[in-house]
Amino acid sequence: MRNVKKKPRMKYKTLKGLQDILPPEISIWQHIETKAKDIFKNYGYREIRLPIMESTDVFTRSIGETSDIVEKEMYTFPDKGGRSVTLRPEGTAPFVRAYVEHHLYNDPAPQKFYYAGPMFRYERPQAFRYRQFYQIGAEAMGIDDPKLDAEIISMLSAILSSIGLEGLNFEITSIGCEKCRPAYRSALKIYLGDKLNTFCSDCRRRYDANPLRILDCKVPACIDSRKGSPPVLEYLCSDCKDHFDDLRKNLDLLNVPHSINPNLVRGLDYYTKTAFEVSSENLGSQSAVAAGGRYDGMVEEFGGPATPGIGFAMGMERIIPLIRDSLNITEGPELFICPLGPEASEKALSIAEQLRSNGLWVEINYDNTSLRSQMRKANRIGAKNVVVLGEDELKNREIEIKNMDGGEDIKTLLQGNEILKSLLPKIRK
Ligand code: HAM
Repeated sequence: MRNVKKKPRMKYKTLKGLQDILPPEISIWQHIETKAKDIFKNYGYREIRLPIMESTDVFTRSIGETSDIVEKEMYTFPDKGGRSVTLRPEGTAPFVRAYVEHHLYNDPAPQKFYYAGPMFRYERPQAFRYRQFYQIGAEAMGIDDPKLDAEIISMLSAILSSIGLEGLNFEITSIGCEKCRPAYRSALKIYLGDKLNTFCSDCRRRYDANPLRILDCKVPACIDSRKGSPPVLEYLCSDCKDHFDDLRKNLDLLNVPHSINPNLVRGLDYYTKTAFEVSSENLGSQSAVAAGGRYDGMVEEFGGPATPGIGFAMGMERIIPLIRDSLNITEGPELFICPLGPEASEKALSIAEQLRSNGLWVEINYDNTSLRSQMRKANRIGAKNVVVLGEDELKNREIEIKNMDGGEDIKTLLQGNEILKSLLPKIRK
């Protein structure tokens, strides 16, 4: 015999930091998406779908040249035409690009949108931190009244609790505006300047370019060295201070428990005034479940008219583990039909179609196996009810819908190929 050389078998795997989401886990994702969409509707947020890729500039200027995301984490590459493109690391900058491009500011304010989809950051993967992760985000444009800030935080709280999340910490702060930032920047530079040599090389570079970014450095020595640095809240101008006080008053009015965290630092440069983060103690170091804030300068920066904006995004991969155990998601068809023999098999096929068109999830057995093995299969796939279609059933035109959870069994006559529609609610139960 000729010795045929076998090709080595390739084993493909997901890339590091990416994951497949399989059933039944996907039901938890759908649960979250459905709950969020229901609440967005009540608040008047409409869905917007944006490309996954943008021109790189969309991110560099808005997120900030000295931010970790832009410096280290973006999936940036030249396309075949030599243009630099980037897989979106977040949704706000692409949203603002679309907002300006389509003149959405011409509609009455606030214009409110939500989006859901994958984001990409080349971070070091660890528990609850992925390189492709999913966000559900919301953005509200055109109003700078702190009532809107309170309302959007309250909406986030409503979404998270409708999903089943409890015991979360809502932290808020204000990071000031263009007016108060120069004074804060100088104070910070004076404080950090004395010990600049204790910071990492990135921070030393950031000291001149954007000292505020030093507050977001994850290097332990830098975290240590910046302890005691001046709190931004003490440098707010009167406008920002009033805005922040009003936000707190309105959050109290809406019964959203929250605390002030003067050390809250966002990893993106575009924020002004309100910034907030929602965290859980059960996620280790990646504790942020959702985060957001105001970005009153970004629309203008993107070439649109001066328009305030505020939004948030929540991380699906951080929410899922927090609710997985408490959700009782059972998957399985509402009816499984076990035909015995070729004639019954054809009948099963048409009964199943008829029931499906009435909204029931129906499965049939396709191969000619024993009733025992068909019942085993019905059990394995979690069927709620089973019908056996054998010789007797076909002859007498009578079937029994057997409830697999120990509920009531139903005997009924087959009319033509039909199972009586009046039985559907009982089967569904
Ligand atoms: P962010 O804080 O960068 O904000 O991300 C928001 C949320 O996305 C985080 O709180 C976290 O739950 C999730 N997340 C971020 N990175 C990862 C990762 N590598 N793996 C898993 N989950 C992750 C933004 O993206 C802003 N665009 C939010 C916003 C909207 N601000 C205003 N509007």
